[in-house]
Amino acid sequence: MTMNGGTIVTFIITVMVSTSATATPMVTFVFGDSLTDVGNNNFLQYSLARSDFPWYGIDYDGRKATGRFTNGRTIGDIISTKLGIPSPPPYLSLSPNDDAILKGVNYASGGAGILNDTGVYFIQRLSMDDQLTCFEKMREKIKAKVGEQAAETLYKEAVYFIGIGSNDYVNNYLQPFLADGQQYTHEDFVDLLMSTLDKQLRRLYQLGARKMVINNLAPLGCIPSQRVKSKTGECLTRVNQWVLQFNSQMKKLLISLNHSLPAAQLIYADTYSPVFDLIMNPNSYGFKASNTSCCKVDTSIGGLCLPNAKICINRKEYVFWDAFHPTDAANAVIADRLFSTIFANSTAFAPPPH
Ligand SMILES: *[C@@H]1O[C@H](CO)[C@@H](O)[C@H](O)[C@H]1NC(C)=O
Ligand SMILES: *[C@@H]1O[C@H](CO)[C@@H](O)[C@H](O)[C@H]1NC(C)=O
Ligand SMILES: *[C@@H]1O[C@H](CO)[C@@H](O)[C@H](O)[C@H]1NC(C)=O
Ligand SMILES: *[C@@H]1O[C@H](CO)[C@@H](O)[C@H](O)[C@H]1NC(C)=O
Repeated sequence: MTMNGGTIVTFIITVMVSTSATATPMVTFVFGDSLTDVGNNNFLQYSLARSDFPWYGIDYDGRKATGRFTNGRTIGDIISTKLGIPSPPPYLSLSPNDDAILKGVNYASGGAGILNDTGVYFIQRLSMDDQLTCFEKMREKIKAKVGEQAAETLYKEAVYFIGIGSNDYVNNYLQPFLADGQQYTHEDFVDLLMSTLDKQLRRLYQLGARKMVINNLAPLGCIPSQRVKSKTGECLTRVNQWVLQFNSQMKKLLISLNHSLPAAQLIYADTYSPVFDLIMNPNSYGFKASNTSCCKVDTSIGGLCLPNAKICINRKEYVFWDAFHPTDAANAVIADRLFSTIFANSTAFAPPPH
């Protein structure tokens, strides 16, 4: 039997699908902020970036406030389900000898940024550098469990999801009382973020990571906590322009790292477009409101959904849950889009088992 190029590609993909269905499930490691935190901050005694109280989690299994910064599932939870794996547990919930560390871990921490001093007023959070240090520690434990060879394979085959940078704006550059916004022009600030992210991604690579999915930033000028700063409740154009600059610099960085790091497979995952589309056309996705939060906490300070808040009746009609974070329903729409762009046509990543 002869095969032309197209047939061979189809054949390889089919083999990948069938082996991933029967062999070991995909291992994922998640790094990020409150958009992907699944409870790490619950273990930081003095952290003010917490969401382990009602009404958070009201639409999660058992109506439990787990430390997720939304009413239900995070985008990461939904993507894990699509991959046929459980959502990786928070790093700080695991004991070092737990076998669970072999199946994927979530290091994300609410309030975290690329820069160490981002979110400083939350007192405690795991910055991106802290998260990498946690990964480095756990990496040694994995090696001790399964041996060097198997550990290297595990790191190499795993998929690393990274979504970081929103807080470097929302809880740093955009805060008038912090130094960074005054000290740096936006151009210089983006350069600082990119040179830092460059070091962080190289460090992750040095630690064995090869398949990395890096999310760009959503239109932060349209989140309720930013809209309230305009007289008419509009999106802040200047903030969205900054985000677009960040995104285009990040894309350049990833393309260059993809070339300079041998065997690295970096994916630039576009969050901006699906989120912007959802915000501009909520009705076409079955939503009614995208310019205010379900929890009605649209203020430029605070903005989390506190137990005394009055929440909306139909949470599925709102794109935003609190002044910063999308609802479970919005996360489902965004996760769908991300999943199909990351996994549907990327031969760098084994397609999901079903
Ligand atoms: C953050 O702090 C750590 C430890 O003090 C330091 O090694 C690292 O370079 C800092 N990272 C950034 C991004 O400033
Ligand atoms: C939000 O959008 C609705 C229409 O979807 C509009 O009636 C309302 O005035 C907007 N509110 C603000 C603050 O812009
Ligand atoms: C990096 O290379 C892989 C192929 O190895 C490709 O699928 C991916 O799109 C590239 N990433 C970027 C950011 O160009
Ligand atoms: C991947 O799929 C999306 C939508 O399904 C499409 O718009 C895009 O062009 C595809 N990308 C590649 C590299 O084939």
